[in-house]
Amino acid sequence: MHFLQTLSAPTIFFSQCIGSKGIASSCKMGSLSIIHGCSMRQELLLSYTVISLLLAVVLTFYATSAVAVDIKNQTYITFSQDHVRMLDAEEAIQLTLDSASGSGFASSKKFLYGSVSMEIKLIAGDSAGTVTAYYLSSEINDEFDFEFLGNVSGQPYLLQTNVYSNGTSGREHRIRLWFDPAADYHTYSFLWNNYHAVFFVDSIPIRIFANNQALGVPYVSRPMRLYVSIWNGDYWATRFGKDKINWNHAPFVASFRNFKVDACIWKGQDSECSASTSNLWWEQEAHQTLSSEQAFMLSIVQNNYTDYDYCKDVKRYPTLPAECNHQF
Ligand SMILES: *[C@@H]1O[C@H](CO)[C@@H](O)[C@H](O)[C@H]1NC(C)=O
Ligand SMILES: *[C@@H]1O[C@H](CO)[C@@H](O)[C@H](O)[C@H]1NC(C)=O
Ligand SMILES: *[C@@H]1O[C@H](CO)[C@@H](O)[C@H](O)[C@H]1NC(C)=O
Ligand SMILES: *[C@@H]1O[C@H](CO)[C@@H](O)[C@H](O)[C@H]1NC(C)=O
Repeated sequence: MHFLQTLSAPTIFFSQCIGSKGIASSCKMGSLSIIHGCSMRQELLLSYTVISLLLAVVLTFYATSAVAVDIKNQTYITFSQDHVRMLDAEEAIQLTLDSASGSGFASSKKFLYGSVSMEIKLIAGDSAGTVTAYYLSSEINDEFDFEFLGNVSGQPYLLQTNVYSNGTSGREHRIRLWFDPAADYHTYSFLWNNYHAVFFVDSIPIRIFANNQALGVPYVSRPMRLYVSIWNGDYWATRFGKDKINWNHAPFVASFRNFKVDACIWKGQDSECSASTSNLWWEQEAHQTLSSEQAFMLSIVQNNYTDYDYCKDVKRYPTLPAECNHQF
C-alpha cells in the first residue's frame, strides 16, 4: 500500500507549489520552479506527466520488494530520550529540538548496498537555524547525507546533500524543493550499489554519486547505519548563519515514518553484500545507470532547483574534483 503513496508522489511534482506565503502562492498547476514561478509551458507539463507515469511504472517494478520495518523495533534512540516521542496511531517517531537539546535515532542494523527510505514531515512554521539530518553513515569515513536546512516562516527549506567517501567530503549540493516539506510527509530514499548511489525525493532522483574508483575517487563501500536527528545548526544553516533559531518558537518537531529497507543487512562479512556480480536486484543492469526518464528528471532538478553545487564552485575548487564530470 505504501508504494501507492510513493507512486502518486510525482503528481505532486506537477500540481503543487510550495505552500509558503509570498512564493508562487497563486500557482495551481505546472510550476516546477519555486523561484521562477509559474512559467512552465503546457507541452512541457504534458511530457512531465507522461514521464511521471513512466517513472511510476518503472518504480513499481522494483519498488514492490521493499520491506517496511517496524520503526520502533528496528531503531534505537541515539540521544535525548525525553525529546523522542512515539506516535502510535501514525506509527511514527517524533523528534524534538528545544533550547535544552536536540534528539535522534538510528537503525539497529547496518546496510551495505540496497535501498533505504523513510517518510519525513519537517518542522513547520519558523524552522530557521534548525537542521534535520537523515543520513547513512559508517561512522568512519563513509556517509550519504540529506540535511534539511530550516528557514523563517514562509521561506523555503533548502535540502543539502553531501557524500563522504573514505574520509573525503566537501561535496555539498543544495536544492530548493518543489513542495513544502513541512506540510506533509514525503519520501526520501537512497539507492546504493556498486555502480552508484542515487538520492531520491518522492522517487525523483535529485543527486547521483557514481563509482569513480577508476579515476582514483574512493567509493562509498563500508556498511552504514541510518541516522536521523534534529539539532541546532544556526551558526551555518540558514542564510549562512544569518537567521538564528528563535527559541520562542520551540519546540521544533519533525516526524518520521514508513522506514523501508531492501538492502543487504550487514552481518560482519563482506562477501555476502559487496559482490557486484550478485543476483541482488539493486546490482542488476536496470539499476546500474539511471533510466533515461530518471536522467531527465535529475537534469530538471539540477538545472532548475539547484541552489549550490560544489562541482560548479571554481572559487572553492580551482581544479574541480575528479568525479565532477563523471556522474553518469
Ligand atoms: C516489536 O517489539 C515488541 C516488544 O519487544 C514486540 O511485542 C513486537 O511483537 C515487535 N514487533 C515486531 C513487528 O517485531
Ligand atoms: C582511504 O584512506 C586511507 C587513509 O587515508 C588510505 O590509506 C587508503 O588508501 C584510502 N583508500 C582508498 C580506496 O582511497
Ligand atoms: C531561506 O530563505 C531565503 C530567502 O528566501 C533564501 O535565500 C535561503 O536560501 C533560504 N534557505 C536557507 C536554508 O537559507
Ligand atoms: C528550467 O530552467 C530553464 C532556464 O533556466 C527554463 O527555460 C525552463 O523553463 C525551466 N524549466 C522548468 C521545468 O522549470
